[in-house]
Amino acid sequence: MSVTLVPSLPSLPTAPSAPSAPLDVLGVPGEINLDYAASAPCARAAADAVAELLPWYASVHRGAGALSRRCTLAYEQARQTIGDFFGARADDHVIFTRNTTDALNLLARAVPAGTTVVTNSSEHHANLLPWPRGSVRLPVPSDPDGAVRDLAAALTELRRGSSPALPVLVAVTGASNVTGERWPVAELARVAHRHGARIVLDAAQLAPHAPVDLLALDVDYLAVSGHKLYAPFGTGVLIGRADWLDAAPPYLAGGGATSHVGPATHDVTWATGPARHEGGTPNLLGAVALAAVCKALDEADRGLLAAHEQDLLDRLRAGLAALPHVVELRTFGPDAPRVGIVSFVVAGWDSTEVATRLAAEHHIGVRDGLFCAHPLARRLLGEAAARTGRRDLPPTALRVSIGLGSTAAQVDRLLAALAELG
Ligand SMILES: Cc1ncc(COP(=O)(O)O)c(C=O)c1O
Repeated sequence: MSVTLVPSLPSLPTAPSAPSAPLDVLGVPGEINLDYAASAPCARAAADAVAELLPWYASVHRGAGALSRRCTLAYEQARQTIGDFFGARADDHVIFTRNTTDALNLLARAVPAGTTVVTNSSEHHANLLPWPRGSVRLPVPSDPDGAVRDLAAALTELRRGSSPALPVLVAVTGASNVTGERWPVAELARVAHRHGARIVLDAAQLAPHAPVDLLALDVDYLAVSGHKLYAPFGTGVLIGRADWLDAAPPYLAGGGATSHVGPATHDVTWATGPARHEGGTPNLLGAVALAAVCKALDEADRGLLAAHEQDLLDRLRAGLAALPHVVELRTFGPDAPRVGIVSFVVAGWDSTEVATRLAAEHHIGVRDGLFCAHPLARRLLGEAAARTGRRDLPPTALRVSIGLGSTAAQVDRLLAALAELG
């Protein structure tokens, strides 16, 4: 199959002018990808950066040769670029991981003993399952203000019952992978800090759609995945406060994570800094690809990109709302701020069958299922049935997600295909 560049801002009446070529995304002619939230297509910036480095590809932090020195430099420059892009503080660590799941698992292993983690039932499994026993899972709120109130109440209660010295970590998403709805991160961070807690932001779905700045949001840790941010090649990042990370046992014990290993079994001095948790040969290409996308996004007009995405999202949601057999899933009100992700059901149709038909008959790729957020998806399916009074809604949902390179024509093709099911 041939691979071509899909221009990222095609003709849409309200669309801003096209972004620079680095933010074009790779695609296959004729195939409509509306599943960015699972894995976004590769940005040209990422592909170019990898292609440029490949002839030099060699070891990182392990060789004295010119190739190896260049690769080491590229890896550390990528760390700096990514940290800067996400507003890392001077003393934060920027640790390369495999993805967001890996980053949150690393943090879960690094929290001090006795830490209570407070999260919400609406989270992706990656932000529900790694946390230690005794974590508090707040119920799904009905609006963003409710999320802030619930957190304040939970932290007040926790602090009443426990020593103020015991650490508390609040774990929240920036944007839901099911509904695209944005969470009030800065407000939640304020509440967390007022109660002496720390906060980690799962930015897997927010970062591809909006600037995310640790300092501006005042969050303590941030986790992202390169493959959702137009940078495949398999890296993720955990950024955040150094103290817990430097005190924790190494996440990946092995070469590169030590500063001294003696002859006795336990005669090991572990490195501090990112190296402590990055044992083994690192994913250089993943790091360089993600840094290239961060740089390209940094140089782009994010306001224009967001405006284009919101136009498409409005078109998509209005089109879905006009189909009487389609019901959108949502946690908050219909006008809550959201990124380019929409989940819905087609009444009377099994969601897997709809997704299969869209692929086979229309060359449209969407996601179906419960989206690794089973508690939330099941709740929203129940809520959709209650809201509409329909008894013919299926037990799983469909999800459409858009971003760079998505077009009005693609959205219209989807809507036309769904209309045929009515
Ligand atoms: C909100 C959210 N958090 C975390 C993850 C986990 O990301 P990854 O599979 O890249 O680890 C996802 C993946 O869909 C997600 O949507």
